[in-house]
Amino acid sequence: MGYQSFLPVGLSQGAPLWWPNPNYRPSDTIAKGPAGALNASSLLEARGNWLRLAPVLNVIFPDGSDIDTQSSLVEIANPGFDGISLLAKCDHDIRSTGSIKGRGGVYEVLMLAEMLANSQGLNVSANPIGLLSQEAGDLFGRHKILVGSTGNLGFSVGVTARKLGFAVEVHMSRDAKSWKKERLCQVGVAVVEHGDDYSVAVSSARRAASEDPSSYFVDDEHSLTLLLGYSSAAFEICEQLKQRDIVINEQNPLYVYLPCGVGGAPGGITLGLKYFFGPHVHCIFVEPVASPCMLVQLAAGPSRPVDVYACGLSNDTIADGLAVARASLLVAEIAGSQIAGVATVSDDDMTRWVLDLWISDSMRLEPSGAAGFAALAQHGRDIRKSHCGKEGTTIVWTTGGAFLPDAEWKAVLERAESRRKVRLTGRARCEIDV
Ligand SMILES: Cc1ncc(COP(=O)(O)O)c(C=O)c1O
Repeated sequence: MGYQSFLPVGLSQGAPLWWPNPNYRPSDTIAKGPAGALNASSLLEARGNWLRLAPVLNVIFPDGSDIDTQSSLVEIANPGFDGISLLAKCDHDIRSTGSIKGRGGVYEVLMLAEMLANSQGLNVSANPIGLLSQEAGDLFGRHKILVGSTGNLGFSVGVTARKLGFAVEVHMSRDAKSWKKERLCQVGVAVVEHGDDYSVAVSSARRAASEDPSSYFVDDEHSLTLLLGYSSAAFEICEQLKQRDIVINEQNPLYVYLPCGVGGAPGGITLGLKYFFGPHVHCIFVEPVASPCMLVQLAAGPSRPVDVYACGLSNDTIADGLAVARASLLVAEIAGSQIAGVATVSDDDMTRWVLDLWISDSMRLEPSGAAGFAALAQHGRDIRKSHCGKEGTTIVWTTGGAFLPDAEWKAVLERAESRRKVRLTGRARCEIDV
């Protein structure tokens, strides 16, 4: 029997649904993962690397976020969620890169820079600020970093690498928004546009890198370094829950809603959260109805790649960061049994929640960044039922949006207004009209 027989009814018709992962093993953690991939000490080491390199980041991004807590954890005032205990992890507001992808992209660039500098005897591990020296800059200038992206990873890699002196080439899919291409050009990144999807953009960048010995490829589909960069967010959550006196245990489980594109960002964060909270955290990946690539990959198993086109879906969505047809096999393999399930959401619902969260909580989200709210509103009850119905604590990860230009932002709000046949009034209207 093919994997298609395991796909939920309605998936191919683009119906929003909750798919509990039949292979979910709540007690699995990184300590029990496949041999040779990552282990608990890799997570601790990654956290240590972030903290050690904080002085460099403070210079590169003088107005950036604190490194020990890159984004805030805030209570949500919006009344649309059954009165549950609801928090948002505000990665849309990460001030250096404006999205969750910075956690991986910035980290991998720093790791590369450190490795290159150390290999030339600059010994920057003891003195990380040496990464900003003239000598290091000259060295980095002889190297090029390539990456495939729908936009936010490319920006995170591009802006960090350019500040260190690397040449950067970003291969972008047809879904990438023009403003995301323009902001890359403004920081001196070479943008290669593809008329095809994200997987093709990634393959093209990989091929170009393989032909140039001075280049380095940031592989969004296969990079353990990216996963480790994302995983450190779990340390922040631990600390932030402690500050709120919230204890996660059998009586009070934690549900975390994570928008998913290729799966790296939510996958890395899942590995980190499972390390701390084990069976008491349930990570729900959220995908657009047209692009449920992780759902179909988990249904098929990690031994062969599958894409959403084979399920009759278009991969056409307003959520550009989530417009991915084929998920990361690496994430499916090493985090698959730790993912509680996948919820899918429509474009209209994502835009609706962009508008609602703006009105209720003054959050400026892009549609990808609002996907978790759409999933919680539509599937939250069923998801809790899949886990003994305990109310617990819910965190929605808001993954991008703060850097959305005003015109783009207004267009998303206007689309939501027209679909809902409402008009923004008062403060919310004034603030977008200025
Ligand atoms: C805003 C936003 N949210 C979520 C994601 C999903 O991350 P990943 O592709 O690693 O699953 C992306 C990816 O680019 C994104 O841009």
